[in-house]
Amino acid sequence: MRDILPADTARWRRLNAVFAEIAGSAGYGQVITPLLEDIGVFTRIGDATDVVTKEMYDFRDKGDRHVSLRPEMTASVCRSFAQHRPAALPWKVWYTGSNFRYEKPQRGRFRQFDQVGIEVLGVDDAHLDVEVIALAWEFYAALGLTEVNLIVNSLGEPEDRAAYVEALRTHFESSDLTEQGRATLAKNPLRVLDSKREGDAAAVAAAPTIADFYSSEAAQHFATVQSGLQRLGIPYTVEPKLVRGLDYYRRTIFEFQGGTLDSAQNALGGGGRYDGLVEALGGPATPGIGFALGVDRTLLACEDEGVFGDDTAPVDVFVVDVVGGQEAVAITAELRAAGFSADRGYDNRSMKAQMKLANRSAAPLAIIVGEEEVASDSVIVRPMARDAGDQQRISRSDLISHLKETS
Ligand code: HAM
Repeated sequence: MRDILPADTARWRRLNAVFAEIAGSAGYGQVITPLLEDIGVFTRIGDATDVVTKEMYDFRDKGDRHVSLRPEMTASVCRSFAQHRPAALPWKVWYTGSNFRYEKPQRGRFRQFDQVGIEVLGVDDAHLDVEVIALAWEFYAALGLTEVNLIVNSLGEPEDRAAYVEALRTHFESSDLTEQGRATLAKNPLRVLDSKREGDAAAVAAAPTIADFYSSEAAQHFATVQSGLQRLGIPYTVEPKLVRGLDYYRRTIFEFQGGTLDSAQNALGGGGRYDGLVEALGGPATPGIGFALGVDRTLLACEDEGVFGDDTAPVDVFVVDVVGGQEAVAITAELRAAGFSADRGYDNRSMKAQMKLANRSAAPLAIIVGEEEVASDSVIVRPMARDAGDQQRISRSDLISHLKETS
């Protein structure tokens, strides 16, 4: 877990603002769910996944309820839907917030990390899958990221997937796997496909692919998704061995990979269909699809691509107070009330020390309040840039109108 300091929070806010704008313009409303839920909400993510078996921050609260900090938000959104039963479908929501997974921290992998995402409940249409993927694509483009690769796959209908899992089990049981590969196989054969270990590589390469197990509906759904992406000019690669780390997916799944990040942490975001999850959480049978994009990783990718440049926002005015009285307090408050961003010097420090601070603030103007100014009911307005002209003495009552005229 880490602190996000002011230099980074500005980028953080910008990313969130871009996402809110894009989601809002596509008709999504924001949902805010609790950080903490009953453990049962998250066990539905899949009892064979690392997220559930190894990474949950779960504990008993003072009422002896078994709860967990959320490791992701899709299950929470589905729990919320099942609880509130919104009448108007589809339910289109977006979210932003922190999640917690007890993982091995490294660049791009943290124990507390943020996601922005969307979920749509109540629509089965493959055209929605295209729209959802396109929204994430649009978001990366709006941020200015260029090195993003979209990878798609379909896990088929539940029966297709079940038949595929059995075929994988048979294949891997008679293949050479590492000890960890064998352990994964015992829990979930699909996850063996995700192995990055060299000792598993040959078995993974020779494994059957899901496409051979699609029912005609699943094949049709996936074909529609692909032709929709082509129609929108969104480049993608079909990766038949893409499986995701969560168990609730059916049919379309996708991942966005960053070109500049280390391969173990290069997933900038991902999502897919999870028809069945709402039902598992006590709601009516409801199709669902969505994605979550990792904020921390996306910002790392932005940094690698130099997307943000110098984004420090200087204040408009820096008030230098050489008197130490109430005058600078009043002037600073007036400036802010008039819509100027303003900072000031404190502690009655020397003029020289405060001018240094004014310089560091990068404000284009300093307003100097000295004994003489207080006595004559005026202030000095000094342009900070070398070639921006001379300082001027301005009557105190004219200060705001003077600044408005000259800014
Ligand atoms: P996920 O693939 O587990 O999917 O996470 C989505 C993204 O969150 C990842 O691609 C990554 O960028 C970021 N992320 C995950 N774990 C970490 C971590 N430890 N540190 C930093 N970033 C991380 C989900 O969470 C699903 N709920 C997505 C979804 C929404 N599916 C359908 N709707």
